[in-house]
Amino acid sequence: MKKPLIAGNWKMFKTADEAVSLAQGIKAGTYKNQDALVVVCPPFTALHAVCKVLQGSNVSVGAQNMHPETEGAFTGEISPAMIKDLGCRYVILGHSERRQFFHESDTFVNEKVKTALKYSLIPIVCVGETLAQREAQSHLTVVKNQFDVSLADLGKEDILKCVIAYEPVWAIGTGKTATPEQAEQMHAYIRRLLTEKFGAEVSAKIYILYGGSVKPDNIAILIEKPNVDGALVGGASLKTESFCAIVDGATEKCSAGAK
Ligand code: PGA
Repeated sequence: MKKPLIAGNWKMFKTADEAVSLAQGIKAGTYKNQDALVVVCPPFTALHAVCKVLQGSNVSVGAQNMHPETEGAFTGEISPAMIKDLGCRYVILGHSERRQFFHESDTFVNEKVKTALKYSLIPIVCVGETLAQREAQSHLTVVKNQFDVSLADLGKEDILKCVIAYEPVWAIGTGKTATPEQAEQMHAYIRRLLTEKFGAEVSAKIYILYGGSVKPDNIAILIEKPNVDGALVGGASLKTESFCAIVDGATEKCSAGAK
């Protein structure tokens, strides 16, 4: 049985001081919990301070994005070497907000995934359809395409170091969660794609997170689905109480042998 992985995506919220307080609260709220993998992804400006607070704790730190090059003339960008240097273990790649507002393509996401792995960063690769795509019944095709291109050229050893997050765009920040059945249908589909490409043994080990309005009161019904291995949490990760309640909710359900 996998420990649940709960990652908080703080997006463009929290100054460095505010981020330190939140990190301290999460550290204190999760220190007894050895049964979950906990990750927080603060904005770049707070990474240094949050990495310092969480050093040696149960909570890992991730960045929310990075450029695929190690260094260069890319004004305003941050490289994998830079986030690694600060102490990050994870990096979110291809979040729908990056795709939507910054026009990131699957090919660009794939370049980032490959460099992240070179720097021993664990990419959390996001996929997910828009409402229009779901209404047109093309959600499976859309996610398959994102999967195929974003994860192109990876071998078994590479994919084992990746996390996949299914985030239906229509459920992000809207309060509208996918039903556990909708989430499970897509997670099972992604698992099948992984099995076809990398074999059943590898596929079973890969974490597939659900993201989109995850809250303390819906984590239990989502995590009990066989192919939901954790959550990528936005809004509810910005408060110690709600984020820790999600971590505890997922852990209790998994430890109770629900999976
Ligand atoms: P949300 O965001 O939990 O606020 O819906 C999830 C995400 O964007 O990762």
